[in-house]
Amino acid sequence: MAMMKIKSYTLILFSLISIFLLSATLSLCHHDHNLRQCRERCEQKQKYQQQRCLRDCQEKYGGTGWESTEEETERSDEHNSRWEEQQQQQNNPYFFDKESFNEWFRTQDGYFSVSQKFSEKSKLLRGFDNYRLSFFEANPRTFVVPSHIDAEYIFYVVKGKGTISLVNQESRETYNLERGDVLRVPAGTILNVINRDSEQKLQFAEFAQSISIPGRPRDYIGMGGQNPESFFNSFSGEVLEAAFNTPRDQLKRLFGQQKKGMMFQASEEQIKAISKHASESHQKRKGKSSGGPFNLLQKSPLHSNKHGKLFQIDGNDYNQLQDLDMSVTFTNITKGGMMAPFYNSKSSRFVMIVKGQGYFEMVCPHLSKTQQRGQRTQEQEETEQEAVHYQRISAQLRPKTAFIIPAGHPTTILASKNENLQMVVFGINVRDNQKNFLAGRENVMNQMSREAKELGFNVQAKEVEEIFNNQKESFFLPGPQQQQQKHDVPLNSIYDFAGF
Ligand SMILES: *[C@@H]1O[C@H](CO)[C@@H](O)[C@H](O)[C@H]1NC(C)=O
Repeated sequence: MAMMKIKSYTLILFSLISIFLLSATLSLCHHDHNLRQCRERCEQKQKYQQQRCLRDCQEKYGGTGWESTEEETERSDEHNSRWEEQQQQQNNPYFFDKESFNEWFRTQDGYFSVSQKFSEKSKLLRGFDNYRLSFFEANPRTFVVPSHIDAEYIFYVVKGKGTISLVNQESRETYNLERGDVLRVPAGTILNVINRDSEQKLQFAEFAQSISIPGRPRDYIGMGGQNPESFFNSFSGEVLEAAFNTPRDQLKRLFGQQKKGMMFQASEEQIKAISKHASESHQKRKGKSSGGPFNLLQKSPLHSNKHGKLFQIDGNDYNQLQDLDMSVTFTNITKGGMMAPFYNSKSSRFVMIVKGQGYFEMVCPHLSKTQQRGQRTQEQEETEQEAVHYQRISAQLRPKTAFIIPAGHPTTILASKNENLQMVVFGINVRDNQKNFLAGRENVMNQMSREAKELGFNVQAKEVEEIFNNQKESFFLPGPQQQQQKHDVPLNSIYDFAGF
């Protein structure tokens, strides 16, 4: 009898759980649906309200719509692991999923999505408020309406063949861009971007540093009309008439005609004409003195073995990065591989995932230990009276997500077992930065004296040394799945949060 009862309770519980899961799934779909409807309403709005309208939809219903354009997304997987992921992300102020990026514009030919202001995500990030990350994508043969931006910009070309013109009072420089090119666009430069290819999409990962209103870089579009709105329309009629020495109705026509949005298709002839006088990128032109792009992937890698490859440039290679005190890195971790845990002595890193899947783990001393399980982790009160405690934070990585590694924080990044993990990393404060490894052949612990090792760990130095010398590879290492085949001991600390 008792058995029966337990059984039926289990059954009821089970159905309740399934109903809960079902309704959760439905509400997700419902959300997508609302977003679509909201977007459609914006389409009808026309004119200059459109961009703001799209941004509002985004904020209200979430979801960036990358799904529809991204070939690699696996939808069903996404739904299953979604709840789990949301939990992880709530506890992780350093990680930015697709929903943390807002679309500043989108047309049927492409989009530009920008990370939320960092201090709005977490107080811990307030020191990074001047920076923004963005993803840009344009369909084949697309023209982007020129604008200038009140921010210093670094572009990394993820994919495709673009042509970019940088225009200022004194000059116009036009460059053809290809995968791996890094380009500094000085603040205030009028920028003209086209995708000159007739088949491939053009994709950039970008880093911006505001130079006027902190953390609020904006586009200034002169060559527009109604949509995108031209800033000329905001001057008064008399002023424009006087400035251009032209009657008002002629001006109205000029500044009222454009309605196609921020990016749209151009003809093959127009594309050809724009890209005709472009210079090729990179070192061929002796990168040092020129303002043009520098191809990162044609430099020899800083670290390379069968578990991964890392290419990096800073102001010594590309002098455009010098005054910004920045580096740009491309990292390709082979499937199943990982980076040896490390920390940067001075530099903080902004990591943008461009292809593949993986995860990262970082230890953080700023989150409290009182609520480790289930509930949202609190940022530590600033009293700092407790003994230091480190909270492990982690997140699954997939294209169009990003995370921040502040200086000093020990971190490791792992590729999934099925796919290489490819990422672009923007580094700030790179002058005199040291990357210190915490494992692998070149680990920094080996620099410590025997006595310090013995006293610090409270075990014999021999034992410490044996463990720190066991890993023969350096920098890129075989990941947990590969290591496990060698040892029979389960690596609990790595597996218990799993995801793979
Ligand atoms: C990353 O590595 C994979 C596998 O080795 C390779 O196919 C791919 O081209 C690499 N990506 C880049 C951008 O170098």
